[in-house]
Amino acid sequence: MAKIRVLMVCLGNICRSPMAHGVFEARLREHGLEDVIEVDSAGTAGYHIGAKPDPRARQEARSRGYDLEHLRARKLEPEDFQEFDYILTMDDANYQNAEDIRPAGGRAELLRFLDFAPQFDEHEVPDPYYGGDQGFVHVMDLVEAAADGLLEHIRTHRALKAS
Ligand code: 4NP
Repeated sequence: MAKIRVLMVCLGNICRSPMAHGVFEARLREHGLEDVIEVDSAGTAGYHIGAKPDPRARQEARSRGYDLEHLRARKLEPEDFQEFDYILTMDDANYQNAEDIRPAGGRAELLRFLDFAPQFDEHEVPDPYYGGDQGFVHVMDLVEAAADGLLEHIRTHRALKAS
């Protein structure tokens, strides 16, 4: 069976979407779903192509037991809409920028990541790049909750067994 493919998207692909990528990857491992679902991440801008996640993102991830060291930034491409089943955007600008390059017939579902964390009264993952370390702590709180919600959603919709 073809894997279910999930793509996390932000602006630079060095802060929010790599954090979402690393957390979701860890959840797949914890639940034994790495052979069923796979995750990647990308940015709507190409400023940081090839770069590792921001050191503050790596540090906050490490402090919670996630490893982002293997991740490298790339740009979101129209072809991603053919390759992925779910494209999750961190904020409204990401959503609009992604929608703007969606090719006709692109099959991916384009969704807002925080729709999967209804316990938070926020609809966008705030960009932490120009702020302090506390911003990365908050991003991680949001991302952990949304990753759990997204996994639950995919399991329900695809009738995947829980483990
Ligand atoms: P991200 O954060 O979209 O969460 O990766 C940003 C990273 C870099 C820039 C902006 C946001 N930048 O302007 O370089």
